Amino acid sequence: KSADIGVLGLGTMGANLALNIAEEGFRVALHNRTTKKAFDLRDDNGELAANLLPTETMEDFVAALKSPRVVLFMVNAGAPVDEQIDLVLPLLSPGDIMIDAGNADFNDTVRRTKRVQGTGIHFVGMGVSGGELGARHGPSIMVGGEESVWQHLKPILQPVAAQYHGEPCVAWLGTDGAGHFVKTIHNGIEYADMQMIAEIYGILRDGLGLQASAMAAIFADWNARGLSSYLVEITAAVLAETDPGTDKPMVDVILDEAGQKGTGRWAVIEAQKLGIGATTLEAAVSARGVSSRRAERQSAAALYDGVTLPAAGFGGDTASLAELEDALETAKIIAYAQGYATMAEASANFGWNLPLGEIARIWRAGCIIRSRFLDDIAKVYDTGETVVNLLQAPSFVERVARGQAALRQVVAKAALAGIPTPALSAALAYFDDYRRARGTANLIQGQRDLFGAHTFRRLDKEGVFHHQWPAIQDG
Ligand code: 6PG
Repeated sequence: KSADIGVLGLGTMGANLALNIAEEGFRVALHNRTTKKAFDLRDDNGELAANLLPTETMEDFVAALKSPRVVLFMVNAGAPVDEQIDLVLPLLSPGDIMIDAGNADFNDTVRRTKRVQGTGIHFVGMGVSGGELGARHGPSIMVGGEESVWQHLKPILQPVAAQYHGEPCVAWLGTDGAGHFVKTIHNGIEYADMQMIAEIYGILRDGLGLQASAMAAIFADWNARGLSSYLVEITAAVLAETDPGTDKPMVDVILDEAGQKGTGRWAVIEAQKLGIGATTLEAAVSARGVSSRRAERQSAAALYDGVTLPAAGFGGDTASLAELEDALETAKIIAYAQGYATMAEASANFGWNLPLGEIARIWRAGCIIRSRFLDDIAKVYDTGETVVNLLQAPSFVERVARGQAALRQVVAKAALAGIPTPALSAALAYFDDYRRARGTANLIQGQRDLFGAHTFRRLDKEGVFHHQWPAIQDG
């Protein structure tokens, strides 16, 4: 019984996380449904072999663990997690800890937490971001569950996590599903960020007629300033790559259908349930759906081929590059504000007390959305002032006020030229809606009251009212 932790599920993420933990000096028991994988992992990583303990059976795996046992599951979200829990749970004792480190739906995490309640066995839902390399060399880790369990896990997770100027990018965020919820919102923001970058790419390609190599240089340039982020950096890298087979830019031979595993959709569903308009996230998820209907888009393209467009192109000159940069930066602030608003509402709704500033801090390194901008968000929360919404934080008010004209220009020009910008447009529409003191829902309330006596409130009097509207007859 000498392993500090057991990793169950040795796919890409599980294997890399196990190696990372072993490299930090912990002994890691390994188990996988195809047991050979566990032995191969040890054999292929000779320098870490002393800390890697492959096991043949689930019994051996659990028996290899020090007490209290810590079992980390890295298996596909959904039923596979429940199946593995069913196998491990009977072998555990009170005090032992199960960690689901996959991308779980937080509702499942809440359910699984309830399942072990009263048994003395603990369940931790933990979000891990950073892809393969992050898992291997330092991911951003979002921990949920009981705080006392976090105290036990901290010594292992802190060195394993990414470090931002020496600060480990791992934190306990709240009970039961808090860690997985925050990871889900991370992914929703990731979708929005990627979609907005792709929309700008669409303008550069179809509006300004640029080649991939020229676009790579533009994104690389932007990456040195306010937009500095992993996603912009990899955008430049993707655009710069050549397909060895055809000598064409890689992007030009990749099919324009985006995959998705569901986390972005979960973020949007939860935002909707909480009554938060995460419209840029919604636009990003929807756009992936539209992208996957390629044949349908092609027939539609043929049908609308001749439609009149008010502008022939995007009207590009060098000045418009600065405008695109400002527009992207502004829309990004709006997208993150929507993600943060969703977390703030969830925090109140689920009684988590999510540390929003801390979340920005642990997202500054290791995760997919890591960026300079997250440090700006962390600073907003560091002031200690109540933040109603990031769009009302003074430093962001100033930036959005400055950048909104560029976003407006870009969305308008793209609309006139027929270039789709669903997420950038959603950001602008949300901004204009959000900053309008007198909205138009009064009309909706009137309609609802007319057709269904749903009642309304008035500006000039307290109370709930119903009006005798004239009867509307068909025909
Ligand atoms: C991360 C990523 C990671 C994974 C997503 C991609 O934070 O490391 O978000 O979780 O890359 O599952 O999601 P899609 O396959 O849905 O794009």
